[in-house]
Amino acid sequence: MYTCITPRIKAVGVSDTDIDLFESQYEVPNGITYNSYLLQGDDLAVVFDTVDAVFADQWLDNLADALGSSRQPDMLVVLHLEPDHSGSIACLMERYPSMKLAASAKALAMLPQFFADASQWDGRLVKLGEGSSLKLGGGVELTFLSAPMVHWPEVLVAYEHSEATLFGADAFGTFGTPGHSQPWDPEAARYYFNIVGKFGQQVQALLKKASSLDIKRICSLHGPVLEGDEVARAVRFYDRWSSYQPDLSGVFIPYASVYGNTAAAAVTMAQLLEQRGVNVVMMDLARCDMSEAVSLAFRYPAMLLAAPTYDCSVFPPMATFLHHLSIKGFRNRTVGIIENGSWAPVAARTMQKMLDEMKDIKVVQPVVTIRTRLAEDNDADMQLLADALTSAVVAALPLTD
Ligand SMILES: Cc1cc2nc3c(=O)[nH]c(=O)nc-3n(C[C@H](O)[C@H](O)[C@H](O)COP(=O)(O)O)c2cc1C
Ligand SMILES: [Fe+2]
Ligand SMILES: [Fe+2]
Repeated sequence: MYTCITPRIKAVGVSDTDIDLFESQYEVPNGITYNSYLLQGDDLAVVFDTVDAVFADQWLDNLADALGSSRQPDMLVVLHLEPDHSGSIACLMERYPSMKLAASAKALAMLPQFFADASQWDGRLVKLGEGSSLKLGGGVELTFLSAPMVHWPEVLVAYEHSEATLFGADAFGTFGTPGHSQPWDPEAARYYFNIVGKFGQQVQALLKKASSLDIKRICSLHGPVLEGDEVARAVRFYDRWSSYQPDLSGVFIPYASVYGNTAAAAVTMAQLLEQRGVNVVMMDLARCDMSEAVSLAFRYPAMLLAAPTYDCSVFPPMATFLHHLSIKGFRNRTVGIIENGSWAPVAARTMQKMLDEMKDIKVVQPVVTIRTRLAEDNDADMQLLADALTSAVVAALPLTD
């Protein structure tokens, strides 16, 4: 099975709805696609990327159908070497022995790490780099741009001039499969911040290069092809996300609580914020999808952390969350803190230390310390903290969507 995107471009990828966790950690209730595209000029036919090895047979059938009986692919372009896209390289190389494999120098150098027999392809390799071009005949012409660390070092993207199409590798990807209609941005944000989020600077560099191109269509390696207005909208989101600017308004409240008292304090703070007209989203870090919590932390301008002290440290679900944020390069946000402790509270100090390792995090005062349960003597500090978080939300840049 394949889908015609244009008369020249066919989508030959597969949907994975059996997967339990994408990349062994991300819940994908609507599955994930491994996209692959066939681009046919008058002279040459090029395949963009393969699929996860589990789906090799289905993908080879899709590709053969799309090619029809008369043609063979002339070239496999590997934009990205991660196994969800490179897993079926060997079987394609075997099936079409005269086909070339084109990729960046870095990808070609890494190829033997992924395929023990890669040296057998030595005579069939084509090196691509920034500005490389390829004419396929009939006016179909590709220009390649390097996109290092978006989000692996070997990544390329390709622009096809006659149909103004960007083959974006993992960029602009999202979770989900056809047949499960869902708005693009929430899942694209969860995908972006968890998979690409650390590399905002590199995404900015790619956006800058791509800004000189007239892009009418984006063919990503995951999720739907973006067309028309969706392209500019997705680029606007990526610009905001990769420059670490919030795109939603309000306070995100990730909390963790053993017996519910810290959770109750977090709910009280949510009410105080709502009374001030602030939008609030809460998540229980022990039970929520961690990748969703990471995504929302990046999307809102301000965050309230609420957690109890635990074994002279902070309750582990909060520590885990902050570790995720830290390695994803979380920065440029306002944070409030509520800690709990029955005899020697140190949760706030522990959270503060983890936040100190992140860039441009402003911890607003006062830090609220509750002793087992929220008490009357916390009232004044709770009001002051609500005021400080409200000011941060009001001061955030206006949204662009
Ligand atoms: C296993 C465990 C370890 C704890 N360690 C500390 C600690 O080191 N210092 C402290 O002040 N409180 C400690 N506490 C007490 C909690 O911080 C306290 O019970 C808090 O009120 C729990 O809030 P919660 O109702 O939101 O779970 C610990 C509690 C548990 C269950
Ligand atoms: Fe990837
Ligand atoms: Fe991918």
